Amino acid sequence: MHLDALDTPCALVDLDRFERNATRMSDRAHDLGVRLRPHVKTHKCVEAARIQTRDHFGGITVSTLSEARGFAEAGFRDITYAVPVAPQKLREVVEINSRIDRLAVLVDHMATITAVEETARPFAVVLPVWLKIDCGLHRAGVDPESELAIALATRLRNSPQIDFRGVLTHAGQSYSVASREEARAVARVECAVTRSFVERLAEAGVAVPEVSIGSTPTISAARNLDGIDEVRPGNYAFFDVFQQTIGSCVLADVAFSVLATVISVHAEHQRAVIDAGALALSKDPGPTHVDPACGYGRMVAVEDQHPLPGLRLTSLSQEHGVIEGAGTAALRPGTLVRILPNHSCLAAACFESYRVVRGTDVIDEWKPFRGWSGC
Ligand SMILES: Cc1ncc(COP(=O)(O)O)c(C=O)c1O
Repeated sequence: MHLDALDTPCALVDLDRFERNATRMSDRAHDLGVRLRPHVKTHKCVEAARIQTRDHFGGITVSTLSEARGFAEAGFRDITYAVPVAPQKLREVVEINSRIDRLAVLVDHMATITAVEETARPFAVVLPVWLKIDCGLHRAGVDPESELAIALATRLRNSPQIDFRGVLTHAGQSYSVASREEARAVARVECAVTRSFVERLAEAGVAVPEVSIGSTPTISAARNLDGIDEVRPGNYAFFDVFQQTIGSCVLADVAFSVLATVISVHAEHQRAVIDAGALALSKDPGPTHVDPACGYGRMVAVEDQHPLPGLRLTSLSQEHGVIEGAGTAALRPGTLVRILPNHSCLAAACFESYRVVRGTDVIDEWKPFRGWSGC
């Protein structure tokens, strides 16, 4: 089927670009001497994760228990659930963990460690747990310079209910950089903070089995990952306009796009409206710190995805997207358009399935896991 036969709005995965992104990151991880545990929250699809893990040990990172259960049922046996675990979800974690080699969780608080122990004890199981540290994002994670961080690691190491996996961090501050060089500097911080915490723990008599780091900007730019065991980039599978703007990739690497239809044209105002709004693209404002006029994504040609600078996606409401610019003169109701989103993870999450294309041929359909709970 040609993609112009698809109903819109429609999510497209360009398989050539996706496979190239997967191979490049896989080679990068090999060259840097680390294991690749891709974060599959970007697409949440079994087919995509199989391609990303094919030259590595098979481990993946997920962001919901729905993903954890789905990927476990699909045969993935080593999974890290990479948001600090809510105590109420631990019963389900125990159950999924019992079906595979390992469903590891993240903690950054004593109360969560207590909850892990209390949930695991009655089942006489040992749960795999990472200590999440904050390397500068200031979102989740314990301050690695604090005494609390040492106390948490010591307790994890000594608990009979816990298999202490090691120290994990995510340098999400890499999204505020303006270039690959700046992302490389954040990667150095990501490594340095974890390495020095591991040294402090060694002085305190706490051995750290493994160190896990990773974001797409830092791992795409890093030149040296000495002292790091595994990396967890995720967005690189699709990339997006944000990553292109901050230098993680070029536009021709962006493997996810949204196909839409023009539904209203106002030539006198150089304005047109498409049927892809915030529920197809998300309302991610994009890399405004580098390009204040970025709008809500980049308009590209439907057939070969070359950029269309005469068209700008300037506003979104629920089911409407407004395009402005001289290029609107060529548009009519019914014209197909294609958009590379600002943030592919959020745009992809708007869809129940993705159409997989090679060029303009639709060759497959991938269905992601949705929701939060795996029950
Ligand atoms: C804990 C953790 N690890 C890895 C990633 C992957 O980073 P990226 O989306 O930049 O690929 C994320 C993303 O939010 C994360 O929260």
